[in-house]
Parts: sequence; C-alpha cells; structure tokens
Amino acid sequence: MTEPLVIALPGNGVLAEKVAQCIGAELGSLETRNFPDGETYIRFRSDPTGRPLILICTLDRPDPKFLSLVFAAAAGRDLGAASIGLVAPYLAYMRQDKRFHDGEAVTSTAFARLLSSEIDWLVTVDPHLHRHKVLDELYPILNRVGHAAPLMADWIRSHVDHPVIIGPDIESEQWVAEVAQRAGAPFRVLRKERRGDREVKITVPDLDEVSDLTPVLVDDIISSGQTMLVTARQLREQGLAAPVCVAVHALFADGVHQALKNVAAAIATTNTVLHESNVIDVAPVLADLAQDIVREQGRPVAPVASSSVGNR
Ligand code: R5P
Repeated sequence: MTEPLVIALPGNGVLAEKVAQCIGAELGSLETRNFPDGETYIRFRSDPTGRPLILICTLDRPDPKFLSLVFAAAAGRDLGAASIGLVAPYLAYMRQDKRFHDGEAVTSTAFARLLSSEIDWLVTVDPHLHRHKVLDELYPILNRVGHAAPLMADWIRSHVDHPVIIGPDIESEQWVAEVAQRAGAPFRVLRKERRGDREVKITVPDLDEVSDLTPVLVDDIISSGQTMLVTARQLREQGLAAPVCVAVHALFADGVHQALKNVAAAIATTNTVLHESNVIDVAPVLADLAQDIVREQGRPVAPVASSSVGNR
C-alpha cells in the first residue's frame, strides 16, 4: 500500500501526530494563513500525489474551520491524491436533524451534503445520531464510526470507587447501560425536557438504593453544560456525593466548565474536542478505523464474477 499522508488542519496537530504514529504514516505539513482581506491561503508542504490523503480536523465550532478544510480537500484532489479521507473526531451539525419550526434549515442534511462533495470517506466518534439511526442516512460516502463507551468505562473502572452510572435521558439508556455493564456498575437514567438552547428541566429518579455510591454522570456531549450542571446540583441537593462528570465531546459553552468544576468531584472527557478536561485518548480508535478504510480502498477491485457458479 502506498504510504498515506496525514495532514492536520490548524489546531489538530497533536491528534494528527498520534494518528500518524499509530498508522505508521507520514505526518505532512500544510501551510495556512489569511490574506489581508481575510481570505484563506492553503499550501501543501508535503506531496500528496498518488497517496491516500488523511485530513485531521475536529469540527467543534465548525463555521470558521469549514472553508480551510474543503480548500485543503480540494487542493489534495487537484494535486493528485489517490483518495481524500477526513478524520473528524467530533462531527458538527448533527443536532438540527429536523425542521422543528416553520422555515428552519435542516443543517444536518445540508452540512453532510457539502462535506461529502469534497471527501471520499469519513471517520468520526459517537456522532449525535438521534432521529437518524446510522450515519449513512446522512452521509452518502464511506464512513466508520468509533465508540468511546469502552474507553469511558475503563476510565471509570480505574478512577471511581463504587460508581453508579447516571445517563441524561431515556434515549441514552442503551448506551449508558453499556458503559455501566463494562464498568461493572449499576445505572439509572434521568428524565430530561429541553426548554431552550440553555435551559433543561431534569427529573431525577428515585436514587435511594444507590445513594451510598458515587454518581457518575455520563453523556455524549457537554455543550451548554446545563444537562450536567442542573443534574449535578440536584444530586447534591438530594444529599448524594459530588458527582464525577464523564463525556465524549467537550464543547463547553463559555463559563460552564468553571461552574461545573464548582459542583463536580471530577470532570473527564475524551480528546475529540481539545479541552483541559481531556483525559481519555481516542486517537488509537480513530487510527484503526482510518487504516481500515485506507486498506479497503487500496485493495484491488475483485474481478466481476463470471458464470463460474452456474458452471459448477
Ligand atoms: C442530548 O440529547 C445529549 O445527549 C446531551 O445531553 C446534550 O446535547 C447536552 O447538551 P447541554 O450540555 O447543552 O445540556
């Protein structure tokens, strides 16, 4: 197989280095800057010609990142890369997957269409699939999804004594049950009603039977942080121990990290989005999936089966 070229978009250098190392691929270099009028300049400093190109770009706060990413993908294509893949540990625009009110844009579909027109394949971790069951319903390109649940469970097992896992809402039950089972802990699920971008109402179930355990709140995303914050405060009010907060994607709206630190015993997130709470490394998962796809794409296409079956 031709050696893949791994390229980090700005801010993704550490993750790209780890992925390149896991795959045993070259970590190339990309020059990016802005012209005085604000337009973007992109130049490959490593040659992608004839090679699988793997772009690494997590997509939290996606709008300012998106153009550089598609320019890099388009340049890679122009320069003759054999294929263009994207490793986006956090995949943006998954939550507006429906027109909740008249006239709204369904951004999950539009974003998927735009991104898929520039790249050949996509690797991500725990995309926020809600009304869509699988990523293929949105992305028409080859894709692989990694799961952080086993890594989160390992972290809980080795850092929390006597945990009880608490999930944010009924939809998360299956996922929470998996983390709990792997961590060897019981679990409970909250009832959540979202009343606005930054307002949630949480109903905590009866926790009497587990009140002597350490609550571990697990969620896929900490965005406004209200789900974790409101829950943590309610648990404290009910006399439970300060909770440990564990999440995959550490988006953290302004100020909420500090507010959560004030009420939580600890906060642990994966490095899908760079944040000071990152303690769980998903790079090996991403590297494995990217390597699988690159191998699959490099495999010679099997000759079309002739009538051999019928001739037997
Ligand atoms: C909801 O479906 C998700 O699992 C999270 O609970 C949610 O996205 C967290 O958002 P926030 O931090 O804004 O409460």
